[in-house]
Parts: sequence; C-alpha cells; structure tokens
Amino acid sequence: MDFSTKAFNTKNAIAQHKTGCAVVAVYENGKLSAQAKALDDKGFVSAAIKGGDISGKAGSTLLLQRPGAAIQRVLLVGLGSEDNVSDRNFTAASHAIARALSTLGAADALLALPLDGVKGRTIEWALRAQVTALRESVFRADGLKSKKDESKAGVRKIAFAVDTAAQAAAKTAVAQAVALANGMDLTKTLGNLPPNICTPTYLANTAKQLAKDHKFGVEVLDRKQLEALKMGSFLSVTNGSEQPPKFIVLKHMGGKAKDAPVVLVGKGITFDTGGISLKPGLGMDEMKYDMCGAASVLGTFRAIGEMQLKLNVIGVIPTCENMPSGRATRPGDIVTSMSGQTIEILNTDAEGRLILCDALTYVERFKPAAVVDIATLTGACVTALGHHNTGLFTRHDDAHDALANELLAAGKAANDTAWRMPIEESYQEQLKSNFADIANIGGPPAGSITAACFLERFTRNYNWAHLDIAGTAWKSGAAKGATGRPVPLLTTFLLARARQ
Ligand code: BES
Ligand code: MN
Ligand code: ZN
Repeated sequence: MDFSTKAFNTKNAIAQHKTGCAVVAVYENGKLSAQAKALDDKGFVSAAIKGGDISGKAGSTLLLQRPGAAIQRVLLVGLGSEDNVSDRNFTAASHAIARALSTLGAADALLALPLDGVKGRTIEWALRAQVTALRESVFRADGLKSKKDESKAGVRKIAFAVDTAAQAAAKTAVAQAVALANGMDLTKTLGNLPPNICTPTYLANTAKQLAKDHKFGVEVLDRKQLEALKMGSFLSVTNGSEQPPKFIVLKHMGGKAKDAPVVLVGKGITFDTGGISLKPGLGMDEMKYDMCGAASVLGTFRAIGEMQLKLNVIGVIPTCENMPSGRATRPGDIVTSMSGQTIEILNTDAEGRLILCDALTYVERFKPAAVVDIATLTGACVTALGHHNTGLFTRHDDAHDALANELLAAGKAANDTAWRMPIEESYQEQLKSNFADIANIGGPPAGSITAACFLERFTRNYNWAHLDIAGTAWKSGAAKGATGRPVPLLTTFLLARARQ
C-alpha cells in the first residue's frame, strides 16, 4: 500500500481533485463535514442523507458512484456525534473505510476526514489510526497455503487530504505510521509462523537481516558462550530440546554515544510444551505464540530503524524451546542463575521467567536508562485483564511510578493500552523455597504478580518495567492470529523518549 499527503486550502479545494474515490465524513444528526459539503455541489450527498441511505453512526458507510465526474466515487463514512468525535468512533470509521476500500475497483483514493476534530487527539493520531486500519486490512497470513486466499481488488494508493499549514507534520506522521505498521507486520508474521519454521535459529537470522537492513549492531551468542556466562537458568529450559538456544543482542545507537540506552528484553520461547510439567493438548498449538515478546522487540526495531529514531535502544532476546525429553529439566531440579541466585524449579512450565532472569542480569552491563521486558508470561494475566490490556508491573517508588506512567501514556496514545498491577513486597513470600534461594512458582493466587515478583529480584540495579502480553499478543478462535501488540506501545514510548 502506498501512502501520501495532499495539501489543500480554500483556493485549491478537494472538489477540483481527480481521484477514483474521495472519502468524506458525515455525522449522526444528518450533518455534513466541511469536506462533504465541498463535494455536495449538486446536492447528491445531502440527498443521500435525507433519503436515509446512511445513518451517520460511527462506522456506517455509503458508496456513491459519479459516472463521468473527476471524482469517480464518493464514500461517505459516519463519525457519530459531530461535537464529540471520540477516538473509538474515529477508529471504527477508519476500519469501515479500510473494509470498503478493500473491495473497490478504484485505482486510488483521497481520504478527507476532519483530522483535527477527534476529542483529545492530534492530527498525527488521526492519520496513524487510518494507516493502521488500512494496513491491517491488507495483512495476509497465507504464506504457507498452496492456494492463496482470494486477493481482492482493493485500493492500493491512498492520499490523505490535509491543510496546507499542517502538511509537513502530516508527512512525518504518515511516514512514522507506515514504519510502525511495517514493524507490526514483522511481529505478526513471526508470531504466526509455525514452530517448526520459527525456531531460535530463525529468530537469530531475522535479527541479522534486520541489522543489515538498518545498520544495527547484532550479536548472537550460542550455547558455549551462554555456558561461559553461567546462564544456568536459561540453559536449564533448553535441556529437552534438539534446537540450539540463541541469545540475540541488537543495538540501535541513534542517540549520543554517552547516553544510557533503553533496553528491551523479549521472551523468545518458540514453542512451550510445558516441558516435563506437560501442558494439556487442547489448544497447545497456540504456544507457538510464546515468542511474541521476542517478535515485538524485532518489530519495534524495524519501526525505529525505519524512523531512524534518535535514541540508543538495545534489544535482547533469549530464545529456545521448552520440550520434554530424557534430558529435560525435572520438577525439583535446582539451578544456579547468572546472578548467582539458586532457583528450585517446581514447575517446568514456568519457563519464561527462567530464561528472562538471566537476560535481565546480562543487561546490567549496558548501564541502562530503563529496561522493559515483554513476555507472554502467565495465563493468570489473561484471567486478570482479559484481552484488552497488557499487564504492566514495576516497583512502587517514585522513579518507577514515572516509568509506569510513561508506558501507560504511550499505550493510550497508541491505542495499545496497558493496566498497572501491584507487586508489593508481601507477594514475594509466595516464592520461598525450602532448598534454594527462590522457587520458580508462587502457587495459584496472583499468578501474574508472583511471576513479576520473580523477575523483580533480578532487576534491582536499574529502572525496570515488565509487560505481560499473554492476553494481548494474539487472538484465538476463528480470527486466530498475532495482533502485533505491543509494538505500538513500545514504539510510541521510545518516540516520546527521543523527543525529550
Ligand atoms: N507461556 C505460558 C503462559 C501462557 C499460557 C500464555 C496461556 C498465554 C496463554 C507460560 O510459560 C506458562 O506456562 N505459565 C504458567 C505458569 C504456571 C506454571 C505458574 C501458566 O500460566 O499456567
Ligand atoms: Mn510455560
Ligand atoms: Zn511460556
């Protein structure tokens, strides 16, 4: 899909433009937006509304053919109530436009919605909402089908009508939105790939390719190097697998050389059987998505690489499979982590924290400004927050309240929200072990919190936040597929830091 901006002013109105389809907004009370009025010279738009052909409710659409006219079609889209266009309504309208354009025969379209009319949102936000919806509608997951899903005609050339005064900012916003959509595409594609293809080695090769494309630094550590680093916890998870583990380090040094980096750490379990604490069979295929934290780091790197973000960002991905075998780790085994803390593994299915804790110790060497880990860590997080919000966990002090608020705000701005959960000291008691420094599970109560508490013990030397994306990284059921979350949250968080 090709995106551009077109500047218009009072002298150069959209009515004089040539296009296969102009998209303009109408409201619930039968009112026309300014751009709809501008096209309504012969009264055909108001006639359609008076005739009751479109309600104006958010997401309602009506296509009007204009044979012989310079604007060959007009797509009306409802935005709901005029004096209070909510971001929800604008997003619904954006998806409706994407749906309508995906089956049109027009070669191009001019999208002329009132970008400055969304309550509490900027023009940039409104452009991003449209680019995201349009790109989502053309995303395909049929790479491994011998017969591809029917490819619809669809409009592939999109121009956004913007005020002349706003054009420079709009151009940047569209370019950033496209970079973000490209990052989300990578995250979704990696998540959807089957686990026999998307192995730790595959993720490492993807990172190397990204590094080539965007001039990132890249390093991939193998088992021998991980042994030398004494990552006994990470390595214990790989014991049952025939696939070699990898530890990926990506560096985008877009800031000043001396500036402390933001570090993203992504859980990269390319398949989670549970190990000897085997999971039940029903729906186990979805544990191919247990590398979505890793995929979100790679997707975010693609986005910030394309944006040439002026910030130092390091991505770290511990990746392996969690498999049962005669060599697999047993419940009851005690291992020594890179930090020196010993861990009693009471359940081999609580493996995410075991690979992350060594990665979280490793990143101390970067003297980070902040570390954010991203992981499909617990089913309990899905129980707590469902599929709407990512779980956000940080310590409860001033520095971490500030970091949490930054991430929450980025999620809100990006339509990719998180919700903060508590991790007070009192929960730590559930992780007591009779035989080691710490147990890897804390029992059924507050499962997502005790998982975060486990990670917390390995992060005391820097500012740290944990994102549990178990409920938000993919969808189950008929629409099964990766969502690309939380790439929008992470990218927006980094963009805001780069502006500081
Ligand atoms: N990858 C899973 C978490 C998960 C489960 C995410 C279902 C999304 C859907 C993780 O490794 C895991 O198995 N966690 C266990 C922890 C338990 C053994 C303490 C869980 O959530 O059941
Ligand atoms: Mn598990
Ligand atoms: Zn897992």
